[in-house]
Amino acid sequence: MGTMNKYALILAAGKGTRMKTKLPKCAFPILKKPMIEYIVESVEESDIDETCVVVGHKREVIEDLLKGRVSFAYQAHQLGTGHAALSAKDALGDREGTTLILLGDMPLIDEAIIDNILTTHEKMGNDLTVVTTNYTDPTGYGRIIRDKYGKIESIVEDKETTEEQRAIQEVNTGIYAINNQYLFQILDKIEKSAYKNEYYLTDIVHLMRQDYSVGTYTIRDSQYVMGVNDLYAISIAEKVLRDKINKGLMLSGVSMINPETITVGHNVRIEGNVTVYPNTTITGESTIAEGSLIGPNTEIHNGVIHRNVQVKHSYVYDSVVHEHTTIGPFAHLRNNANIGRDNRIGNFVEVKKSTTGKNTKASHLAYIGDTTTGANVNFGCGSITVNYDGKEKHQTHIGDDVFIGCNTNLVAPIRVEDNVFIAAGSTVTENIPSGSLAIARNKQINKADYARNLIKPKGKTVEDSKDTEKK
Ligand code: UD1
Ligand code: MG
Repeated sequence: MGTMNKYALILAAGKGTRMKTKLPKCAFPILKKPMIEYIVESVEESDIDETCVVVGHKREVIEDLLKGRVSFAYQAHQLGTGHAALSAKDALGDREGTTLILLGDMPLIDEAIIDNILTTHEKMGNDLTVVTTNYTDPTGYGRIIRDKYGKIESIVEDKETTEEQRAIQEVNTGIYAINNQYLFQILDKIEKSAYKNEYYLTDIVHLMRQDYSVGTYTIRDSQYVMGVNDLYAISIAEKVLRDKINKGLMLSGVSMINPETITVGHNVRIEGNVTVYPNTTITGESTIAEGSLIGPNTEIHNGVIHRNVQVKHSYVYDSVVHEHTTIGPFAHLRNNANIGRDNRIGNFVEVKKSTTGKNTKASHLAYIGDTTTGANVNFGCGSITVNYDGKEKHQTHIGDDVFIGCNTNLVAPIRVEDNVFIAAGSTVTENIPSGSLAIARNKQINKADYARNLIKPKGKTVEDSKDTEKK
């Protein structure tokens, strides 16, 4: 690529009034990831050398998301996009090279689009390249006004168009490549728009067209440069991104059943020969290895799923599942559950902050929290690690080859050594040494012939049985 330095200037200081949300617009998530992060990621993967983000409204939220990755400029009052760009004068003013201006509300832009714009800008030898696109419904966007030779003349904001201009389908994407030496001189000349009392960045077009070379670059795939201004647009962006991600996955060998109902986040990696069933959402830094079957009705966020795993009707958050293990239906793994290979975590089983060895099973109705478990452990139906005393959490340690009878409470802190058998219904409060059978429940008492005092004989009324008693 070219030798000139390249900068990105991302405007993200606006209030996002049309969103009607508490979060600042550029921090609003799409597929559980803040919009601005998509843009910065694409910039990082492009030929851009240095990035400056203009922050203002709730700046700390945006700064928190991006710290260490970009530099920041501050726009104290939101006086428009022109004013926002000018706020970066201290940060970028003395640089030589090309600056690519991007808006913080165009999450679908990718590195290929960015690099194409920069290459075209350089090839055409422009001082300013305005990036445009065409929409059948251009409502909300600034329209591109061209002179009779087809050369760009100005940009008119949607609300300020004449009826004739409103019909123009070519719009301003809000992306500009500009010679950085001229940028800040021109920005200084922008005057407040009478209509909105704001400084419009779009004014650089008519301010430069006389004395500089100003051209346009038109994006064909208009959906990838859409601007997100409200929650409806968020849903559109999410759909576009979902379709793009799902298509890429399917073409790489991931089978998706009813893909419209499947959502996979931007940073998720799924290997080939995986099947994803309907109503499944996989987000965050999740990975799914080959041979696994995921879903239906499953949520995985920051989950690492090894090979040949099955996860059905379940939640997996911040957890790892090793190979050949089955999860669900209706299981919940969270907060660093680390499930070993060949495990079975079945119906209504919750595992939190716990590690299990290989071939361990909790098939029904169990809670395993703050626990390390060895290999070949069987949690009977209804067994519970009692990790919380109302004040603090405590650890349970279970060795290898342990059989935990149904409805057992293991009151933590507690250690159960290897080769232990715990009788059903036990409430275990003391450590169990290796090789033991532990029974921790009241001994059974059978009272001969007593039941008839409590249960009325079949076919008789209560009065009848009272009579029997009298006799
Ligand atoms: C803008 C363009 C419009 C274009 C559209 C493309 C202007 C005047 N209009 O309109 O021509 O078709 O984008 O999506 O540029 N911002 C600041 N400080 C401010 C105001 C805005 O940093 O004072 C930031 C916002 O955070 C946002 C971006 O600039 O990320 C764009 O602002 P927005 O209000 O969304 O502009 P649009 O009305 O969409
Ligand atoms: Mg916008």
